[in-house]
Amino acid sequence: MAKKQSVDPFMEKLVSLCKRRGFIFQSSEIYGGLGSCWDYGPLGVELKNNVKRFWWEAMTHRRDDIEGLDAAILMHPKVWEASGHIAGFTDPLVDCKQCKHRFRADTIETVKCPDCGGELTEPRMFNLMFKTFMGPVEEESSVVYMRPETAQGIYVNFHNVLQPSRQKIPFGIAQIGKAFRNEITPGNFIFRTREFEQMEMQYFVHPSEDQKWFDYWKEQRWNWYLELGIRREKIRWHEHGQGELAHYAKAAYDIEYEFSFGWKEIEGIHNRTDFDLSRHAEYSGKDLTYFDQGRNEKYLPYIIETSAGADRASLVVLADAYFEEEVKGETRVALRLSPKIAPIKAAVFPLVKKDGMPEVALKIYHDLKKHFKVFYDDGGAVGRRYRRMDEAGTPYCITVDGQTLEDDTVTVRERDSMEQTRHKIAELVEVIGGKVG
Ligand code: GAP
Repeated sequence: MAKKQSVDPFMEKLVSLCKRRGFIFQSSEIYGGLGSCWDYGPLGVELKNNVKRFWWEAMTHRRDDIEGLDAAILMHPKVWEASGHIAGFTDPLVDCKQCKHRFRADTIETVKCPDCGGELTEPRMFNLMFKTFMGPVEEESSVVYMRPETAQGIYVNFHNVLQPSRQKIPFGIAQIGKAFRNEITPGNFIFRTREFEQMEMQYFVHPSEDQKWFDYWKEQRWNWYLELGIRREKIRWHEHGQGELAHYAKAAYDIEYEFSFGWKEIEGIHNRTDFDLSRHAEYSGKDLTYFDQGRNEKYLPYIIETSAGADRASLVVLADAYFEEEVKGETRVALRLSPKIAPIKAAVFPLVKKDGMPEVALKIYHDLKKHFKVFYDDGGAVGRRYRRMDEAGTPYCITVDGQTLEDDTVTVRERDSMEQTRHKIAELVEVIGGKVG
């Protein structure tokens, strides 16, 4: 099922590290894989959870004006009529009559198959939504769709959230969840996949204030990537021109990251006007207006959307963190992940597996794991254990040695500089905890 993808040398190294260290595996690998679906292993799930938590805290916990939501993946089929996805969520598709490969007509320049030179079919419109059937009968009336974006779950719950939360406009609703798109040209590892997670926030504003809030959210979202530890020079803005704008958008900017395969979108900030609420009001027959007491005015709010991918953000942090250097004639590979999102915050090692060192190291490990994610390792030479943790992106390695048994101090080795400093065991929570929280 999985089509072999040609990847660039950098991506090959990253994909191989992700497999080796248990970040990300091909879905159903023992059966040959399933096209563009990926599984997150022990370190990957920690990393992605940390990225999502970082987003959730920034967008909800640290603010008073945004509420959280977790809507169902399956929604009433009319939602997708109202949203425009049934009519418009399509890509033009051509098939090669010879090798059967499939392409998006708008991404190829020749009239012949780019892979084998064979003849291509006429373009036909291909809807990217996955269809399934609800209930035991497979007939047209029971068709439901796997949501292609999380946003619609927010629009249809606008009043449900507004009333109990007693929010006033401007306010927002944030959601993290899975989305599905039957992409014709998925690829570049977890960059474009058919099953992925979105982190979306819809901010409801008075129509006269759309530009102000659009600018505000552009700045917030830009700063979020910098806080995540992404290098400033690797991100840029891309403004959507008239031809590029989605049917719902009045204005749209993408934040792009410079991957090894080029500058690519990682998040979109959109001014969706009142398109979504007016369409859902029309298709559901429900009044979705808002009465603004301060203005003594009833109106359909405009929506400023920030839409990021959790998998894409995870790829950005992995790609941005990947680092190689020569150390004593050997190549050291490290992931310089921000301590805030690193899967393991600290590793604890006994220098040798004797003289009471494992007992002390295990005691430190058990104490620290009450505070943050730690890992215990006593296998092999200490240098190799450091290298394994470098590849896992672990910012600190704590080593119990001979001196520990005399004065209760340990070495703390920092991943990026490889510098070691000595600290009292009793100070470790404070020394490390402050940086990884
Ligand atoms: N609600 C608006 C919306 O969904 P989008 O530009 O289609 O807008 C927003 O998607 C973000 O979702 C993208 O910037 C990307 O991070 C992520 N995304 C979209 N399609 C994806 C895919 N096939 N695989 C991984 N992430 C995807």
